[in-house]
Amino acid sequence: MAEKRTLLITAGPTREALDPVRFITNRSSGKMGYALAAAAVEKGFSVILVSGPVDSSVIPPEGLAEFVPVICAAEMAEVVKTRFPAMDAAILCAAVADYRPKVVAQNKIKKKEGELILELERTEDILFSLGQMKTGQQKLIGFAAETENLAENALCKLKKKNLDWIAANQVGLPGQGFQSDRNEITLYGVNGEVIPLPLTEKKLLAKQMLDAIFQ
Ligand code: C5P
Repeated sequence: MAEKRTLLITAGPTREALDPVRFITNRSSGKMGYALAAAAVEKGFSVILVSGPVDSSVIPPEGLAEFVPVICAAEMAEVVKTRFPAMDAAILCAAVADYRPKVVAQNKIKKKEGELILELERTEDILFSLGQMKTGQQKLIGFAAETENLAENALCKLKKKNLDWIAANQVGLPGQGFQSDRNEITLYGVNGEVIPLPLTEKKLLAKQMLDAIFQ
């Protein structure tokens, strides 16, 4: 029997600590990444799912090769970069925080009179890092959630991050995208492919996306 193809998927948000009880995060539910993981298992891939903290109603699919829960961007970067060399492909779907507090307070920050100014620093762009590490045999797929100039921004990211495919979706529309069960994406390939996948359940969309990318 042929070896199973290996696929790494990231999902969910990350949490960037401010102090022991507070953090910065975003509204990602993890549903799209988990749907991709389920569809990939179904399609016969050996799947590693690396996930930020998601609601307990979002459950890892059965049949994963590995499930790695992480909290912050630095932890996700470490796990993903360690495992990527052994993978045939990676789909980075996680909504990784772009910034984290520059200083993490050891103790709970006390309120004082006046303003509190937070200093933030950039986190590592994990997708960009994998684009640098990628061999000719590996496929790398990213997401681009945009509120404007969808195609232009997605194509720019495809190139800049050295991707094979990018799944672009318009965010800020009611009933789709972040936290919703439905989504609509356009897939752009490095060879000029443009594949619109109209609004549907994330589970079906995940299957259509994998079918388009992996024959
Ligand atoms: O540049 P932008 O954040 O819009 O790109 C989104 C894509 O990059 C997604 O695939 C996301 O998972 C990935 N990403 C990442 N690490 C970051 C930021 C984004 O892997 N720090």
